[in-house]
Amino acid sequence: MEKRIRVKAPASVSNLNCGFDVMGLALEEPYDIIELEITSTGVIEIEDIRGCDDLSRDPARNVVGAVLNAVSLETEGNPGFRVILEKGIRPGSGIGSSAASSAAAAYAADVLLGGRFSKTQMVRFAMEGERLASGSAHADNVAPALFGGITLVRSYDPLDIVELNVPGELFCVVVHPEVEVKTSVARGLLDREVPLATAVRQWGNLGGLVAGLYREDYDLIGRSLEDYIVEPKRSGLIPSFSEIKKSAMAGGALGAGISGSGPSVFALCRGEETAVRIRENMSRVMLSTAIEFDAYLSPVSKAGAQLCQ
Ligand code: HSE
Repeated sequence: MEKRIRVKAPASVSNLNCGFDVMGLALEEPYDIIELEITSTGVIEIEDIRGCDDLSRDPARNVVGAVLNAVSLETEGNPGFRVILEKGIRPGSGIGSSAASSAAAAYAADVLLGGRFSKTQMVRFAMEGERLASGSAHADNVAPALFGGITLVRSYDPLDIVELNVPGELFCVVVHPEVEVKTSVARGLLDREVPLATAVRQWGNLGGLVAGLYREDYDLIGRSLEDYIVEPKRSGLIPSFSEIKKSAMAGGALGAGISGSGPSVFALCRGEETAVRIRENMSRVMLSTAIEFDAYLSPVSKAGAQLCQ
């Protein structure tokens, strides 16, 4: 068994418009890094958090603590862990910041414990981080952060994660406006029930998206990237959302929408050249506002959580 390791896990874009709480994809960057050590004390200790001043080092109030606690409870002897967290992903950005930390913690703990858990079990541990962060143990960010690629949560009970095909030319552009959107608040805006006719349109798109990914049919992917349920309720949380989305579509995006619960806005497209144009278009809209922002361009990462080289 190794004693101290470094693991990184990537940012992710979840929902992908038609797949609320079930679809997600991993980006190549940014990512979070966990440095983890196993101890015999039986306690979880967060020694340091780098790259972010706003997160608590109290393991009861940090997603990494929640994940490692869940791992410890399911491990004979209830081991302790000492952890340093390096944040490369801004918390509250909508690109799976808490999920990347949680996924890295679950993966690192598994490596230190000799590789006893399946990836799906690691997702379950990482979901405890999401529960702490947002009050809801969704898996659509932690699954791609652990598995890499594009994942579908086919079922939550029992947990069933399906890895989907990643078309080779698929690129993702994300702009992150610096406004705060709490996932718990964004979830609170959603209706508890969906009219049947709306559900029919939405699951038609979800099936279309999965088929499009397998057929590498970019037009079908684009036609399927429509959200009739969540986006209409949440788009008002993001300043200039419809202008940002329109600018992405004008640049040739297959589709665009809210990344996770926002405030980031994502666009999917075919090829890097188109992605660069879309990033310029979306950035131009952001520059016309007074809001600071970050912009990312990335292929879908085939790799999820992994040991740092
Ligand atoms: N599927 C979740 C949501 C992702 O949209 O609320 C948030 O991280």
